[in-house]
Amino acid sequence: MSSISKYNDLQLVEMIKPIYLNNPFYGPTLLPHVALTALFASSAATELGGSGPIANLAGWLHDIGAAVKGPEDHHKTGAEISGKMMKDMGFETETIILVQNCLLSHRGSVESERTTIEAQCVASADGLVHFCRIADLFYIALVRLKLNSNEAGEWVGNKLERSWQKMIPQHKKLVKSIGREKMRGNLDLCVSSW
Ligand SMILES: [Fe+2]
Ligand SMILES: [Fe+2]
Repeated sequence: MSSISKYNDLQLVEMIKPIYLNNPFYGPTLLPHVALTALFASSAATELGGSGPIANLAGWLHDIGAAVKGPEDHHKTGAEISGKMMKDMGFETETIILVQNCLLSHRGSVESERTTIEAQCVASADGLVHFCRIADLFYIALVRLKLNSNEAGEWVGNKLERSWQKMIPQHKKLVKSIGREKMRGNLDLCVSSW
């Protein structure tokens, strides 16, 4: 696989942070969500023999479509937006396709085959982060979607169920075995790496 320029990776992440921060759909929940997804996805991909850098980039970009255009079809809009950004920044075509592949298959609510280790890890990490940050899900349900408490409970429950279904065994084990304190430790690690 072609190498990825470290400079471009960092530059791309810096470029997309304000887009996530200022998104009109999910408020303040989105930036920590994608940062943690990138962290968990890249470490899992490396552990499983895939590409940590590809998973990291795709983790950062996986919800860019949702930030820019809203939740609907954000796997497709995100792949389009990311492809254009990466092309403009000089990323190689092979890298762009691998990242887009992760974005297109990251959703639990959309039927799709995850054909690479990186795609499996990004989808799984996305699900794992939902478990790490359940309060964010309630924020979206109650504040953004304006559901009542019963509806919000059902919405969050369904989201977690779909998240669980797409998670790799390592991440499921984390949810089962790691206590809340250690989850917070992962969050702190992530925040310190921004
Ligand atoms: Fe998403
Ligand atoms: Fe996500």
